[in-house]
Amino acid sequence: MGKDVIIACDFESAEKTYEFLDKFTDKKPFVKIGMELFYAEGPEIVRQIKKRGHKIFLDLKLHDIPNTVKKSMAVLSNLDVDICNLHASGTVNMMKSALEGLTRKDGSRPLLIAVTQLTSTDQESMEKDLLIKEKIEDVVIHYAKNAKLAGLDGVVCSPLEAGKVHENCGNDFLTVTPGVRFADGDIGDQKRVMTPAEAKKIGSDYIVVGRPITASSDPVSAYNRCVNEFVD
Ligand code: C5P
Repeated sequence: MGKDVIIACDFESAEKTYEFLDKFTDKKPFVKIGMELFYAEGPEIVRQIKKRGHKIFLDLKLHDIPNTVKKSMAVLSNLDVDICNLHASGTVNMMKSALEGLTRKDGSRPLLIAVTQLTSTDQESMEKDLLIKEKIEDVVIHYAKNAKLAGLDGVVCSPLEAGKVHENCGNDFLTVTPGVRFADGDIGDQKRVMTPAEAKKIGSDYIVVGRPITASSDPVSAYNRCVNEFVD
């Protein structure tokens, strides 16, 4: 898979999601299904969106004991999604087990990427709540290296970290980056943002874009603008 724009389908119901996806009559965009939609509609939403011809990043961020994660990943793998994820803080062992669970009998599997530190975690909360005293940038890179060691395909990270992740883990190690905004757009609750063109320059492999597309009065044009800036 090459560079692509992934639309974060943060909708509360299947109905709202289909209404949105129906607007895309030419190209079927790569979509991200997160916890809200998955918990509301269950695995059927994944099957239906797949049937409509979309690639799917199932963003459920698993984190549990290795055996439970392994078995859960096997279920997600059967759903035929393209990308799954988990928390790197679950340890290298958990990530290895996840990969085992995800791998189908024929050896194929969805891509597996790790969340390093959530962008909602800052230095202060990491030190105070998690008792991790290292610099947050170092923690992110350490987790990325762990993910690579476990055999994963990449990480979810801020576009500002994508360059450093590639420097440390190689250019083939995928960086999937949310926090993308148009130069003339609202940044909303995202703090550290980049435009699609900047994310391309810094070497992101996939950008995850939600509200700049989903809340736009013309989502198809907003999506095409992202693709033009990031991919073409
Ligand atoms: O609407 P917006 O473009 O901010 O959506 C970004 C998407 O990426 C949301 O689904 C959000 O949950 C997700 N995300 C994020 N920051 C992270 C990880 C995921 O914004 N660190």
